[in-house]
Parts: sequence; C-alpha cells; structure tokens
Amino acid sequence: MSPADDLGFRHRYLPGAPGAGGVTLLLLHGTGGDESDLIPIGQSLAPGAAFLSPRGRVLENGMPRFFRRLAEGVFDLQDLHVQTAAIAQFIAAASQKYSLQLNRMVAVGYSNGANIASSVLLSNPGLLTAAVLFRPMVPYVPQSRPNLRGLDILIAAGNRDPIASLGETKRLAGIFEAGGATVSMHWHQGGHELGKDDLDAAAGWISQWRAAR
Ligand code: MLT
Repeated sequence: MSPADDLGFRHRYLPGAPGAGGVTLLLLHGTGGDESDLIPIGQSLAPGAAFLSPRGRVLENGMPRFFRRLAEGVFDLQDLHVQTAAIAQFIAAASQKYSLQLNRMVAVGYSNGANIASSVLLSNPGLLTAAVLFRPMVPYVPQSRPNLRGLDILIAAGNRDPIASLGETKRLAGIFEAGGATVSMHWHQGGHELGKDDLDAAAGWISQWRAAR
C-alpha cells in the first residue's frame, strides 16, 4: 500500500457482514501493539461488524504508540494534539474511502489506544458518538467544556490498576459527563490487563447500543 493509500496511518480494514447494520469498530491498540492486535477482540465484541484498525505512528523503543510520552503517565501534550488531529483526519478520510457511517462507528481503545480515543472525543465533539475505553487515563484537560451531548461511553477500568488509577478514571468520567456524555462504568477486580469480564461487559454494552440505534 502506498503512503497515500494508507490515509496517513498503516491500517487494516475488514468490511462488515451484510445485515450487520453498518456498525464499524475503530480499534486502537495499546503501547507495543499494531493494526492486527485488537481484531480478534473486535470480532468477539461485535460479530459481523466492520473493523478499522490503524497502527500508532510514534515509536517508543521500537514499540508503536499513538502519541509520545515523556515518562509513564506523563504525556507530551504537543505531540498528543498533533496526533489527535491526524487520527481525526484518518477517521474522516477512511469513512469516505470505505463508505462508513460515522454515527455507527464505535471507538474501542485499550490503554494508549483508549487515551488517543478520549483525546479525539474531547477535541472533535460530534465526530464519533460511541466509545469503549479499556483502562483509559485523562489525556488532557480541555480549556473549555466540549459539547458531548449524544456521546455514549463505556469505561472499563481495573480497581487495582497501577497505571490508570481509580481516581484518574473517575476524573475522566467526570470530564465526559460535564460535557453531557452518558458514561457507563465497568469495574474489573484487578489491574491493567483485560479480563473476560471486561470483554463480556463491552460486548453487552455494544449490543445494547446497536439495538438502541
Ligand atoms: C499511555 O502512555 O498512554 C498510558 O500510560 C498507557 C500505556 O500505554 O502504558
């Protein structure tokens, strides 16, 4: 694929099954992952959906990420804003290229992927209407409150997560809710790694979201 064809990000696109209602999962991997990482999880969360899965284009010791960090949990905000704009542009371009309906797209991010998803949601109100955030942190605090009415979010957090702490998770939920988003929470009894309960909660949430559309 030439760089122009890959819309700025190396990515995989898997079309949905006919009759699957035009739902697309935008899959955003964690640090060290790639565009293939979350496809099996996506298939278990929303069978028959289309999948759009970009690879983060920042490298940290050879590991792909969606934006630079200065240390664990300390984000390079300038790079975060540049990469957030780039992913938002990728989403818009991919939706045109593959004829995807943005109001039927669910961002599904894990860890660093959840953080770029949150940043896109806060910076581009109205671009996407649904997201499943596994182990997210606050990417940045918006200077003015974005209008997030109509946005549905599931946050799946670990109550003993040393990276995305309980307080941080609640702060993020508060930022989304202050903008008018509807936030559901799933608390996993454990740390940063995902458990089966996280995937079950996400699959249930997505199927309810699909049914309500
Ligand atoms: C991040 O850097 O986005 C978070 O610390 C999560 C991680 O990737 O470890």
